[in-house]
Amino acid sequence: MKITLLPGDGIGPEVVGAAVEVLKVVAEKFNQSVSFNEQLVGGCSYDKYGTPLTDEVLSACYDSDAVLLGAVGGTKWEMLPQNLKPEAALLKLRKALGLYNNIRPAKVYSALLSSSTLKPEVLEGTDFVILRELTGDVYFGEPRGYDENKGWNTMIYTKEEVVRIAKYAFNIARTRGNRVTSVDKANVLDCSQFWRKVVHEVHQDYPDVQLNDMYVDNAAMQIVRNPKQFDVILTQNLFGDILSDIAAMITGSLGMLPSASLGSKYALYEPVHGSAPDIAGQGKANPLATISSVAMMFAYSFQMHKAAELIEKAIEKTLSMGYRTADIFSAENILVSTSQMKDAVIENFNQIFDEQALSVFTL
Ligand code: IPM
Ligand code: MG
Repeated sequence: MKITLLPGDGIGPEVVGAAVEVLKVVAEKFNQSVSFNEQLVGGCSYDKYGTPLTDEVLSACYDSDAVLLGAVGGTKWEMLPQNLKPEAALLKLRKALGLYNNIRPAKVYSALLSSSTLKPEVLEGTDFVILRELTGDVYFGEPRGYDENKGWNTMIYTKEEVVRIAKYAFNIARTRGNRVTSVDKANVLDCSQFWRKVVHEVHQDYPDVQLNDMYVDNAAMQIVRNPKQFDVILTQNLFGDILSDIAAMITGSLGMLPSASLGSKYALYEPVHGSAPDIAGQGKANPLATISSVAMMFAYSFQMHKAAELIEKAIEKTLSMGYRTADIFSAENILVSTSQMKDAVIENFNQIFDEQALSVFTL
């Protein structure tokens, strides 16, 4: 397993550092050898090289089986022109690696039911996944720009772009609850009308999967009103950006959600949260989203579903023991640092692994 590490800015290095330790332990237990190539990306790369993404970093990504990214950005770089901002590195990486399929699961850990801003009874049992198209839409559409008097972007999708993500959505739905909600703004936007038409064409080949359409404003409301109704949410790049933050919030903390960005050749894994410069370097960051992203890496890049499942179980157990970083802490819990949380996950992983190995043996 050849993995490129892009810790990035703010809390990125802390959460990636913690997740890499988990990754090493898991790889060893499953007899996999793993090598790492660590590189700068985002603001730290800009400070050193004058660009948020160097060609060397891209080559390192092309040459690896998977990329693990922490977070990019920070107030320090906010006034830079768009193409030099840390965020530009992320967009270039997505485009250059062809990562069109962004998977953001919204799963509620039962131990965290009470840390959400939603009532536990509304939230309990929520388990959906947002499939966000990641290389099209206003994010990349041309023309774009602004002058003294106006600013403009272009919302554009090609048929091929909609077809490939729609197929993925229907396929993934078959492994879950068999339902896809396609989210658009077809009542106003031509591009969304086109999106809807193509999604329905692709659906012809998946008659066993239930499909419904929803306008994005309604979807935002429905996620908060009754999140249990969703199984797979398929959506455009911009709408997916917004909806995935809402989804992250209702699960109890943005610090909990992992993501995978997949293309036909490459894959990048990263927590959904940002670089949180205000708490960087203090050992306060929640590493669970990045650890959970490592679980997704095992599942999607290495087809090691058992490893992924055990990491998730270790996270669940750690939470149920009451361990909390500051972002999810409340009075009855045990407040831990980034590295204490990671140590607890590793300990629980080892224990669960050994128990399971033993039970296979005794069978
Ligand atoms: C995300 C982020 C990025 C996006 C930013 C940092 C460019 O918000 O991954 O959701 O808008 O896609
Ligand atoms: Mg976002």
